[in-house]
Amino acid sequence: MEPPRKKKKPVSRRAFLRSMGGGAVGAGVVSRVLGKEAFALQPGTGEMDVVASRTIALTVNGKKVEVAAEAGETLLDVLRDKLRLTGAKRICNRGECGGCTVLLNGKPVYACHTLALQVDGAEILTVEGLADGDKLHPVQQAFIDKDGYQCGFCTPGFIMASVGLLKKNAHPSFDEIRAGLAGNLCRCGNYQKIYAAVGAAADALGRT
Ligand code: FES
Ligand code: FES
Repeated sequence: MEPPRKKKKPVSRRAFLRSMGGGAVGAGVVSRVLGKEAFALQPGTGEMDVVASRTIALTVNGKKVEVAAEAGETLLDVLRDKLRLTGAKRICNRGECGGCTVLLNGKPVYACHTLALQVDGAEILTVEGLADGDKLHPVQQAFIDKDGYQCGFCTPGFIMASVGLLKKNAHPSFDEIRAGLAGNLCRCGNYQKIYAAVGAAADALGRT
């Protein structure tokens, strides 16, 4: 079980701009990421502050949802903590392991490294959205058939990265599978079986 997370403090404009590179460059990034409505005049001070939270609209696993997202919150925070979709795993939480991989408009991304406010209006597919009722997605089925997991903690990330890879390249070679999954780490070292599962999934998808 994951340890309880500390409640985040609201992000002050100064702290946020500092984290984004400061000054004019930071302000430009802020307005692109958050949009104009994310700024507000603070009563009495005349200073502009970054509003702590804004409602964003997403299509998650085919369902339209609206959810309040804070300035510093990631897509992974929103999926796991607000939408209760815990398939994407928070492992390194710093864009290194791929455990949080989801598809953003059809392409694999690290959800822990994607600001929620940046993906307003996007389509998100998580591992929960792959199966068709009781019928597993061919990639999920192949991971089972080929023993593509041991502890299974990395598996949702690998499955989503594999789905993204097979969308782009329906018949990847072994080397292309290896390269396509290079952003995902398996601490159990089950790589050979994972690669075999992706090969089997490509064959299965080719037959459908
Ligand atoms: S948890 Fe996102 S890359 Fe590791
Ligand atoms: S199966 Fe255990 S980390 Fe990959």
